Amino acid sequence: MTSTPPPTTEAAEFDASTAFADCAESGEFAGKTALVTGAARGIGKETVTLLHTRGARVVALDARPEVALLAEELPGVVTMTGDVTAEETASRAVGAAVDAFGGLDILVNNAGRTLNKPVTQTTAQDWDSVMDVNARGAFLFAREAFRAMEGRGGGAIVSTGSYASTVGLPEGAAYSASKGALAQLTKVLALEGGPLGIRANLVAAGVVETDFLGTFRPDSRAYLASFAHVHPLGRVAQPREIAEVLCFLASPRSAFVTGAILPADGGFTAA
Ligand SMILES: NC(=O)c1ccc[n+]([C@@H]2O[C@H](COP(=O)([O-])OP(=O)(O)OC[C@H]3O[C@@H](n4cnc5c(N)ncnc54)[C@H](O)[C@@H]3O)[C@@H](O)[C@H]2O)c1
Repeated sequence: MTSTPPPTTEAAEFDASTAFADCAESGEFAGKTALVTGAARGIGKETVTLLHTRGARVVALDARPEVALLAEELPGVVTMTGDVTAEETASRAVGAAVDAFGGLDILVNNAGRTLNKPVTQTTAQDWDSVMDVNARGAFLFAREAFRAMEGRGGGAIVSTGSYASTVGLPEGAAYSASKGALAQLTKVLALEGGPLGIRANLVAAGVVETDFLGTFRPDSRAYLASFAHVHPLGRVAQPREIAEVLCFLASPRSAFVTGAILPADGGFTAA
């Protein structure tokens, strides 16, 4: 995102609360245990809510202490604070799912961070900090999930990727590289996981109206919403729209889908 595009009101015209009114609030995840990272807000919080509503037992992890509020909003959800870049966090989180619920069936690798800088201004520390969360963290959680899932006959690993998983994002060297790494990790997980009954898929999200850029800009949601024009659909996504795709890929409805990099980008990468 190099320049500020013209303002638009298109995003306000999509109401996720009514658009999904006819979706079955089914119990398709009944008996399943899920672990969601980056769960405190945005896409991760929406995903926890959908999984919980549809019957899953959920462990919700985030670096932000406010993740604990989910336990009050969604009774039965187990919340944890931790940094996904630490091996200890991954083993503690998967261990919590096994201890509390007897195993792990679904991992949603969603925690992520970004950085907008030209290549020449990107420091080695910048690079490492983005790669650590988006690539290393996802790897650590997937590895731990594999260990829990293979003794259980399988599972589903879904990751929140980006259009930057497949195309370059100007001033996003570290972010694009990290989301590209996440896509390649997904394919390897699918190859190694297939014989174990473990599926792995990635949702390549377009621009989503969240607080994702909050550490850089106080107007994160409005700024992201202003990128409506980059999508042929003429608006940005609401977090629920990405959470729905993550849940589809975590569900038995996608039983023959693995190794997929599925765009949910309003057509952005169709060109
Ligand atoms: N918002 C967008 O436009 C957009 C577009 C494409 C992809 N994505 C991806 O969607 C995912 C969710 O982003 P979002 O838009 O909901 O933003 P968000 O900032 O609201 O949510 C990200 C969450 O990840 C958590 N997190 C970050 N680093 C962490 C760490 N080291 N350990 C534990 N938790 C950590 C944050 O605390 C936050 O709660 C990210 O992976 C992001 O890359 C977002």
